[in-house]
Amino acid sequence: MSTFDILLLGGGGREHALARCFVADPAVGDLHIAPGNPGMAALGTRHDIDAADPDAVVALATDLGVGLVVIGPEAPLVAGVADALRKAGIDCFGPSREAAVLEGSKAFAKEVMAAAGVPTAQSRVCDTIEQATAAIDEFGPTHVVKNDALAGGKGVVVTDDRQEAIAHASTCGRVVIESFLDGPEVSLFVICDGERGIPLLPAQDFKRVGDGDAGPNTGGMGAYAPLPWAPESLVEEVMERVVAPTLAEMHRRGTSFIGLLYVGLAMTSRSGMQVIEFNVRFGDPETQAVLALLETPLAGVLRAAARGELDTVAPLRWRDAHAVVVVEAAQGYPYAPLTGCPITVPTDDEHAWTLQAGTTETDGRLVSCAGRVLGIVGVGPDLEDARATAYAKLAEVGFEDGFHRDDIGIPH
Ligand code: AMP
Ligand code: GLY
Repeated sequence: MSTFDILLLGGGGREHALARCFVADPAVGDLHIAPGNPGMAALGTRHDIDAADPDAVVALATDLGVGLVVIGPEAPLVAGVADALRKAGIDCFGPSREAAVLEGSKAFAKEVMAAAGVPTAQSRVCDTIEQATAAIDEFGPTHVVKNDALAGGKGVVVTDDRQEAIAHASTCGRVVIESFLDGPEVSLFVICDGERGIPLLPAQDFKRVGDGDAGPNTGGMGAYAPLPWAPESLVEEVMERVVAPTLAEMHRRGTSFIGLLYVGLAMTSRSGMQVIEFNVRFGDPETQAVLALLETPLAGVLRAAARGELDTVAPLRWRDAHAVVVVEAAQGYPYAPLTGCPITVPTDDEHAWTLQAGTTETDGRLVSCAGRVLGIVGVGPDLEDARATAYAKLAEVGFEDGFHRDDIGIPH
């Protein structure tokens, strides 16, 4: 079999999970990572470039002669790295700068959803605090206030406190005020080639910082997949009512979507499945759980998507198992995480392993450098077993200044 080399951009738990897939993939020759993290050093060659600098990425990809660039985080997408790579004739899994606005602007996402007839919360786009206050009062509690601009998953405040809602709105420029969607949330990731999409397994994220969904929103404190409670028709329904019309609308606008469409959904009691948000990249930490279950080698699927050839890809195969990922975060997260604290990581085994995110090496020691530090993945025959396996491995982590939720993997 002929192989190709990959350049993977990013350095979080999501990229660590992707890197694990690529090294196990017989189609992949060498794996290059920029910038990666210490946990990924054993999986590929790390390159110290700015992954959000289009010229630097094109120069590195050209130099290395890679057959595919996979973009993990949103920052390089918004900076136009995918555009620069395509212009240079390099296959790239990740949307263009214009298509990435689906995540970069909540107002744009709402406009596309409206044009495509996608079920979603009612919303008002507001440019002044007077408009925002009026919209907050129009919808009433629970209030949902979203910074229109990219905020790393932290620009959204959901609160019953009107003053807090108004205060958040006043710290943003343009804001989107939405009606509240109740019900459990689902993250569905879809690999897209501009025209077609292939869904991964649905997952559930734990966004709030504390047990029982207490405290502020974070980037995600843990996740599990698949969802034993979800209706069997859910994925098909999302593909039909959300993904197909969205891809068609993006294509119609001349901004075809090539990359990972992250559909964030609420399963509401009154009106069924509704879209909460789109992101344009693999979600983190959900990806750490979802990819733990993927049997099909991933690289060829992503390259087929980059080339507009998903029609040539066979249906994905999944392990008949469940996966849970628990995030170990640094004290102070999500506001002001403590950094520079020493960490020891347990040995991986077949059923449980550690993915690194906010880690770096100082004087030869592994230390924390960001809010979400580790993701501990457990796989088992059922959700309860996967959960116990993840927490058992987590108990072996040495990180005095860390904390985690104890209820990850309990459906909510
Ligand atoms: P977003 O960045 O749009 O995903 O929002 C972050 C989190 O805020 C979501 O995962 C939900 O938990 C919550 N959220 C966002 N929009 C709504 C809504 N309309 N109703 C209820 N919760 C929401
Ligand atoms: N886990 C949520 C996100 O990736 O945005």
